[in-house]
Amino acid sequence: MITTNDNEINLASPQADVSETLFEATLRPQALVDYVGQSKIKTNLKILIDAATGRKEALEHILLYGPPGLGKTTLAHIIAREVGSSIKITSGPAIEKAGDLAALLTNLQENDILFIDEIHRLNKVVEEILYPAMEDYALDIILGKGAGAKAVRIDLPKFTLIGATTRVGLLSAPLRDRFGMTYRLDFYEEDEIEKILERAARILKIEIDNHGKKEIAARSRRTPRIANRLLKRVRDYAQVKGSGNIDREAAAAALAMLEVDQLGLDSSDRMILETLIDKFAGGPVGISSLAAATSEDPGTIEDIYEPFLLRLGLLNRTPKGRVATPAAYDHLKRPKPKFENQTLL
Ligand SMILES: Nc1ncnc2c1ncn2[C@@H]1O[C@H](COP(=O)(O)OP(=O)(O)OP(=O)(O)O)[C@@H](O)[C@H]1O
Ligand SMILES: [Mg+2]
Repeated sequence: MITTNDNEINLASPQADVSETLFEATLRPQALVDYVGQSKIKTNLKILIDAATGRKEALEHILLYGPPGLGKTTLAHIIAREVGSSIKITSGPAIEKAGDLAALLTNLQENDILFIDEIHRLNKVVEEILYPAMEDYALDIILGKGAGAKAVRIDLPKFTLIGATTRVGLLSAPLRDRFGMTYRLDFYEEDEIEKILERAARILKIEIDNHGKKEIAARSRRTPRIANRLLKRVRDYAQVKGSGNIDREAAAAALAMLEVDQLGLDSSDRMILETLIDKFAGGPVGISSLAAATSEDPGTIEDIYEPFLLRLGLLNRTPKGRVATPAAYDHLKRPKPKFENQTLL
């Protein structure tokens, strides 16, 4: 559930809530050295950046993909800063017409960065304008109509396109092929999340000890956005209920109150598993029936809840539908049925 009401933010959702924009901007690292984790990407990017700046050339086009909240937007800003270029920001759904993109492209300066978020949501007509722009730094436009129409080519400054997406599979092959570099962001290690928490606590002037950090990191779904969000909530709790300092007790009590459990599941995740077990005898059940029974949107279940439940091995997808695993019964403390008849694929 993504709403504008702060009380209703789904705490464990990896997606940003509109009310979080400012908070996230405050915590965004500005330089590559402050960007925690993703070490392979950083090493590779550093070489790319040094080579391009050494030659005083525009960087190659870069595609960043991976689940929400792992730092794609942050990285795009860092790249711009590292090469000393300005960054123009837009998103797939914001570019409605070919003319919108043409206007953006013709306003770029040499070596500028154009960041297109949710690039998988570009429409086909707009996408085709991008091909020559990316490949030849050119804009092909048709002037006039019918027999008198003629194609005109306009040269564009040498710019860098950075595209970001959570759904790389939805990108067309011609678009994907035009990126010189593609980086997949991965979930963070727990100690990296602890570092991110440490940095955020320093910026927000929050007193937190190592145990407090570990407690929050363990429930952050290996996702920086969720870690920072939980830190903020735990801070509020510690301030109201205690000394304001975050130690293990304060963190555990706050997270219990926020209903984020030891695995990082929140009440919505648990509700999905509970419905699966209690109403559908553990499944298999189709996504639409599960959505109807939980009053959630099928797409939200598939994109937001399911990936994490699958990753933790609490849920399985079978050809006949979704199935709760023995681990889900254990986690929710439900008596386990016999599992031998189920194909746990
Ligand atoms: N490597 C990192 N080091 C420190 N903080 C990070 C890192 N990655 C992300 N963050 C923090 O997490 C927050 C979310 O990151 P960001 O907005 O870049 O994610 P995203 O991948 O663009 O998500 P979305 O897919 O929803 O657009 C940022 O505010 C930033 O402070
Ligand atoms: Mg983003």
